[in-house]
Amino acid sequence: MENQNINEIYQSAMDEIGESSTSEKLQELKIKFLAKKSVLMSLLSTLGSLPPEERKEMGQKLNEVKAKIASAIEEKENQLRKEELEKKLKSETIDISLPSKRVELGGQNPFYVVKDEITDIFLNMGFEVADGPEVETDLYNFELLNIPKDHPARDMQDTFYISDSVLLRTHTSPVQAHTMQAAEGKPIRIICPGKTYRRDDDDATHSHQFAQIEGLVIDKDINIGHLKATLELFAKKMFGEKREIRLRPSYFPFTEPSVEVDITCANCNGKGCSMCKGTGYIEILGGGMVHPNVLKMNGYDPDVYSGFAFGIGIERVAILRYGIDDIRKFYQNDIRFLRQYRKKA
Ligand code: DAH
Repeated sequence: MENQNINEIYQSAMDEIGESSTSEKLQELKIKFLAKKSVLMSLLSTLGSLPPEERKEMGQKLNEVKAKIASAIEEKENQLRKEELEKKLKSETIDISLPSKRVELGGQNPFYVVKDEITDIFLNMGFEVADGPEVETDLYNFELLNIPKDHPARDMQDTFYISDSVLLRTHTSPVQAHTMQAAEGKPIRIICPGKTYRRDDDDATHSHQFAQIEGLVIDKDINIGHLKATLELFAKKMFGEKREIRLRPSYFPFTEPSVEVDITCANCNGKGCSMCKGTGYIEILGGGMVHPNVLKMNGYDPDVYSGFAFGIGIERVAILRYGIDDIRKFYQNDIRFLRQYRKKA
């Protein structure tokens, strides 16, 4: 064994390390030069056969070379890792000085804005939200609300029929019957926002599809004062603290007495203007005390329980609130209309 030989091994290791450009290649070199079966290591194992004075010198030399090769590989490994990281960082850089693509914020349809506002007002008063089917039976849409087959009130509520006894609900009032039956005689305080349908020729004030929020409260000792206070609070929260309400006698088959509720016109403060047609008031909803027949048919004893109910047209409230002149605009998806209700970013 000669120094010459060791130097050659060292030189070729250094050359190969210098030329290698991947960590896989370095791994191979580690095996080639430093593993047990490498030339260098086999030289180490022959040291024992050398005379003692040469053994020491050769041993030192071999270990030195081994350490040098190992550290050269390590250095190269670090260098490669750094280069790879730099390459990755470069390829993944984001130019933050580039102007971004504008994300267009959509506008919420004012219908939903108002629906949520009305719902929140009643939730804050302790009401819960109930639900019912849009495809309804004649039984729930009419009969259980005290509107029998030949009742003239049906004339105003013609609708789309699926069959003789199944139809698209004409109002959210059938949810009253569903809720009462499910509550099995317990007190009730619910609202139900939902879609409703009627056979109608569409124009600025009529739509074959619209939406209502039904309200129903049933308990012992409920009187018309509760109805008035509840709706007054709703009107003030929805249309402003200055609004007054007035109850006008009306007729609905499922309430007795029945009322129509007007608010003072926001435009003229009750003095009379073109918006309120000179009356100073604008009608916003219908309601009344739940008819004893309705209580009875749906499982409540009218001698023990009483209740009030109301129905609010959601589009009507939105129209008044935003001064919208055509109910069809809620459904036409005209961007120019919806843009006006876009949330400010
Ligand atoms: N269902 C009625 C309609 O669509 C509105 C209504 C009036 C609902 C009086 C009620 C009520 O709950 O008590 O015309």
